[in-house]
Amino acid sequence: MMVCEFKPGLEGIPAAQSSISNVDGQNGILEYRGIRIEELAEKSTFLETAYLLIWGELPNKEELEAFEHEVHSHRRIKYRIRDMMKCFPESGHPMDALQASAAALGLFYSRRDLHNPIYIRDAVVRLLANIPTMVAAFQLMRKGNDPVRPCDDLDYSANFLYMLNEKEPDPLLARIFDVCLILQAEHTMNASTFSARVTASTLTDPYAVVASAVGTLGGPLHGGANEEVIQMLEEIGSVENVRPYIDDSLQRNVRFMGFGHRVYKVKDPRATILQSLVEQLFAKFGHDKYYDIAQEMERVIEEKLGHKGIYPNVDFYSGLVYRKMGIPTDLFTPIFAISRVAGWLAHWKEQLEENRIFRPTQIYNGRHDHPYTPIEQRA
Ligand code: SDX
Repeated sequence: MMVCEFKPGLEGIPAAQSSISNVDGQNGILEYRGIRIEELAEKSTFLETAYLLIWGELPNKEELEAFEHEVHSHRRIKYRIRDMMKCFPESGHPMDALQASAAALGLFYSRRDLHNPIYIRDAVVRLLANIPTMVAAFQLMRKGNDPVRPCDDLDYSANFLYMLNEKEPDPLLARIFDVCLILQAEHTMNASTFSARVTASTLTDPYAVVASAVGTLGGPLHGGANEEVIQMLEEIGSVENVRPYIDDSLQRNVRFMGFGHRVYKVKDPRATILQSLVEQLFAKFGHDKYYDIAQEMERVIEEKLGHKGIYPNVDFYSGLVYRKMGIPTDLFTPIFAISRVAGWLAHWKEQLEENRIFRPTQIYNGRHDHPYTPIEQRA
């Protein structure tokens, strides 16, 4: 068997063949099933985009209404999962609470009827419907309150914000939040999606697949960066401090959260769309100095690192939207997970269609035929 050259992080190595999304990192292009992200952000909704990603085509009117109705009808979580969440420490990170709750969902649906389209659709609906309720429920419970039941009259994003804040959101906020979910729903073979596919390839259940992906997304080099971006902007504190902060960070070889990307070597197209959402928000609800700091950061880092292809990624501006909405910083990554469940489920389904368990090889650089040293002779 020919062994390929080892590439750290599997950089540039195709791990799958997929028709779900495509990224052109040199030209800053992202397409979901061939449709440009800019068009979907302007014209679609998150649930319609989720349908497109998972089943491959935009739904017709009847299909979309049926899908929306099914998801709306399954938004309540099992009371046993809610009771389990009451035992979680308030100080625990919401991503850990979400990973535990997503995995627990599998306890109720353990059959793995993976070749049954009805089983697959039921799992898709349950996970898309339950994940937002889990995130909102933990938020209220860690404050010592009972969670709020989903409001059947509200659409997907408005209902999440309702469950989170215990009041109906302004329609502009709900729309902007829904666009954020569209933007973060899918992104080819990122780390958490790769986790999802590896887990899916063992033919385990979809709840374990999503729990595996949630755990992967939480890291600061991946989905956890949006939380770190806000902390960085708050640490900088003013536009005047941006350049000294960047110069000092470069001296210490510190990475800037929300910048850089394995694939994009120009500005992430999602960052550009998020900036327009930020500007809409601030126009209606008042300015936020952190946007000025962020824009100055973008300018200075382009000057210093643009030649290395270091530009803002999706995590740089998403946090500013959520912060303006009053969402706690440590919920930014769980919100990323709410969105990316659509992409993970699309890849779960695609993996099952032509499955082969992931089992890469390695280049062994350890010892051979080494003697066993009895413990009394060890140093
Ligand atoms: C997401 O994969 C996806 O698609 C992910 C995602 C999705 O939708 O799923 O787009 C979401 O995870 C976005 C990324 C969020 N993470 C961050 O913002 C964390 C900060 N960024 C990085 O640490 C970094 O840019 C990565 C992890 C995102 C990508 O790193 P790579 O491809 O492994 O790059 P590298 O480590 O090989 O660095 C190449 C060079 C190095 O300089 P040299 O040693 O060659 O001189 O670029 C430099 C790095 O030091 N560099 C940075 C930098 N990122 C890379 N320098 C300063 N700040 C940064 N953020």
